[in-house]
Amino acid sequence: MTRDPVLAAADHLEPLLPEPPDIVLVLGSGLGGLVDAIDDAVTVPYAEIPGFPSVTVTGHHGRLVAGRLAGRQVLAFQGRYHVYEGHAPAVVVRPVRVAAALGARALVVTCAAGGANPSFGPGTLMLITDHLNLTGRNPLVGPQRPEEQRFPDLSRAYDPGLRAVARSVADREGIELVEGVYAAVLGPSYETPAEIRMIQRLGGDAVGMSTVPEVIAARAAGLDVLGIALITNAAAGITEHRLDHQEVLDAARAAADRFGRLVTGVLAQL
Ligand code: HPA
Repeated sequence: MTRDPVLAAADHLEPLLPEPPDIVLVLGSGLGGLVDAIDDAVTVPYAEIPGFPSVTVTGHHGRLVAGRLAGRQVLAFQGRYHVYEGHAPAVVVRPVRVAAALGARALVVTCAAGGANPSFGPGTLMLITDHLNLTGRNPLVGPQRPEEQRFPDLSRAYDPGLRAVARSVADREGIELVEGVYAAVLGPSYETPAEIRMIQRLGGDAVGMSTVPEVIAARAAGLDVLGIALITNAAAGITEHRLDHQEVLDAARAAADRFGRLVTGVLAQL
């Protein structure tokens, strides 16, 4: 029988890690620089992990960095998989499942997103309070995994306690942190202005092509979730501006310092 790819990857990684991880970090487009702050880092390229395809999106590295950050043992995935790359949702959530198998108890997930809420301009950090899954995909489709729930409750998918910690760190550090609903679309084309009007009417504040699969898998496995979106651009139709990926990466880099202070401040309090 073929080995379960999640367990195969976890077995491969376990002897390489300094300690079992407390927290798994998934770092979105242009936000991977946080791994440079990890102490006693062990780096493993995805190419060396069984069942981890290579990463194709510019701005995503494709490696795992394990070590200490703000006193916590973290497993940071610098570069993620997206369904729009043609990966099965099960591949997209493999990093989270592997981290759960290795003992992580919380997921901190980050992403670049377009601002559907007209008051959320480029550079805004948004604490994700809830999501709209508009991708038509769910990573739990298929046989139930023994360590996961079949029908996980998502009514508090983004942990209220972790959100309170993030708000208090942002206050203390003088970092503006808005709150809102993340609408996930499949991509890879950006939205039309009509789609953004739809998302606004549905209650979406930010729109992106990631995050939701990882959050669903984390909740199914019992991990607490904190989600932070960096608004890199106004969503389609809000300004005259045309959208492009380089703008997303530039905005992410410009926010790297604030973003890093927020995430490390939160980790220190977990
Ligand atoms: N739409 C979807 N995904 C995104 C955007 C956007 O405007 N910006 C960054 N990721």
